[in-house]
Amino acid sequence: MNVGIIGAGHIAEKAARTLAAMEDMQCLAIGSRTLPKAQAFAERFGIPRAYGSYADLLGDSDVDLVYIAVPHSFHFPVCRDAILAGKPCLVEKSFMLNATEAATILALAREKGVFVAEAIWPRYMPMVSMGRELIDSGIIGRPKMITATLAYDVSAKERVQKLSLGGGALLDLGVYVLTFVRMFTDSTVEKINTTCIKAVSGVDASEVITMILADGTLCSVQASAWCQGDNKAVIAGTTGYLEFDDSINPQHIRVCRKGHVVEREITVPEQITGFEYQLRACKDAITAGLLEAPQMPHAEILYVMHLMDRLRAEWGVEFTSAIV
Ligand SMILES: NC(=O)c1ccc[n+]([C@@H]2O[C@H](COP(=O)([O-])OP(=O)(O)OC[C@H]3O[C@@H](n4cnc5c(N)ncnc54)[C@H](OP(=O)(O)O)[C@@H]3O)[C@@H](O)[C@H]2O)c1
Repeated sequence: MNVGIIGAGHIAEKAARTLAAMEDMQCLAIGSRTLPKAQAFAERFGIPRAYGSYADLLGDSDVDLVYIAVPHSFHFPVCRDAILAGKPCLVEKSFMLNATEAATILALAREKGVFVAEAIWPRYMPMVSMGRELIDSGIIGRPKMITATLAYDVSAKERVQKLSLGGGALLDLGVYVLTFVRMFTDSTVEKINTTCIKAVSGVDASEVITMILADGTLCSVQASAWCQGDNKAVIAGTTGYLEFDDSINPQHIRVCRKGHVVEREITVPEQITGFEYQLRACKDAITAGLLEAPQMPHAEILYVMHLMDRLRAEWGVEFTSAIV
């Protein structure tokens, strides 16, 4: 399967490195707003085709999947153009600026019969089923509390600082800790409370979100784009807890008992970067003729987008969307 990456930035590099090490998929093309940047990127990663506009990449009939790696405010227009060009898309997280954009894109994709997925990479990893199997085995008793942190100081990045680019901690990092909760429970959010500290530019810099789920689980998650956190996550049950050494890409899941006694430690399979799972999930879904990835269905994309809209409304953080 031939992938075309749109946007020759930070995360595009990781996608290109991943694809270079995969046997069943390759990066065929890179699209940038400027040709010299596309050419330099292509040379660095051994990519055969370089385009000086996103439209040119979308016009390449050999591209089977478009990986959209641009700031959040451009996800909607770029993804819309890709769908209208008939190209299956894997869109970086957060999927869109808000739920209205997300619903519009998903409806368009359905209407045109084009595959669309969100590149929220933990969703596609083996650790999801590993963690769920541990919970279902009863090894920690009944889950009662979930805590997760994700904080990196990425405050110097323009796309994180600016409201106009869909900046802030939530769409960049908070989406992962919300996803962490959603990956390990099917219970819906009954109650949500939150508080946030804003940056001078008006974006959310740091936030705490507490949720009570329908099954009575209490969740407390926090994210910041302005500091370095421990970035761990814990699922606490009545007789023990699962400790994930990272809330996005854990390498180890520990089953612990009272007194920090480690009863079992599970190591995830060796990875290229961890991005290979989402890429392969797209390939498998497209090959099977699906319009969405079973690991991250469209309904779930919308659910999380709605949660994030509620949080930003509470904080008074508003984005200007291309459509609303
Ligand atoms: N999965 C992960 O671990 C992870 C980590 C970080 C970020 N992300 C996500 O990946 C996406 C891109 O993040 P990034 O860190 O890669 O961003 P970035 O490096 O700041 O920008 C990505 C590219 O977007 C393009 N772009 C288009 N219009 C732009 C504009 N007006 N201003 C700036 N750039 C523009 C540029 O490519 P050209 O100049 O080549 O057109 C730029 O290089 C976001 O959705 C982000 O949340 C994911």
